[in-house]
Amino acid sequence: TPEKTLPAKGDVLVYADPAKNNAPVALADIKEGQVVFAFPKGKVNGTDVVKSGIARNQLIIAKFPEAQLKAPTDIKGTDQGIVVYSRQCMHLGCAVEVKAYPSKGLKEAAVCPCHGGVYDMTQGGRVADGPPPAGLPQLPIKVVGGQVVVQDFFQSLPYDITEAEFETQKK
Ligand code: FES
Repeated sequence: TPEKTLPAKGDVLVYADPAKNNAPVALADIKEGQVVFAFPKGKVNGTDVVKSGIARNQLIIAKFPEAQLKAPTDIKGTDQGIVVYSRQCMHLGCAVEVKAYPSKGLKEAAVCPCHGGVYDMTQGGRVADGPPPAGLPQLPIKVVGGQVVVQDFFQSLPYDITEAEFETQKK
């Protein structure tokens, strides 16, 4: 079914909150220290579809001061400090929540309630703690005409990648 399609370039992020009728997420609602839950919406076979039918497409929109965003974040896939990740944990697929994780020095991390997986959203979703075998998938975006627009497929980092290793891999 079309709702189960993965995000594609050009999709617009819309509110996951049913009270907001899947309207495009307003930039004014994306603030540092808060998150917005979203789905991608785009054309499938010529028809506009909210792609809400798979867990991977439940998205977190967060915002950080740009100087805090470091490789291995896909810096090309961020705009105005806005980063987007899937909520689907790479361990066994629970939906992550966003909260502080002080023991790793993270003020705002993606934390899995099932087995304690923790991902650093300022570093490309790199695994900061727990059992996940790979990083939280980051969805590259750009702000276009006041909307958050998908630029590429999900990107997920290997478990134990370091910043330095990531820089090497890019070359
Ligand atoms: Fe997330 Fe196990 S499902 S840590």
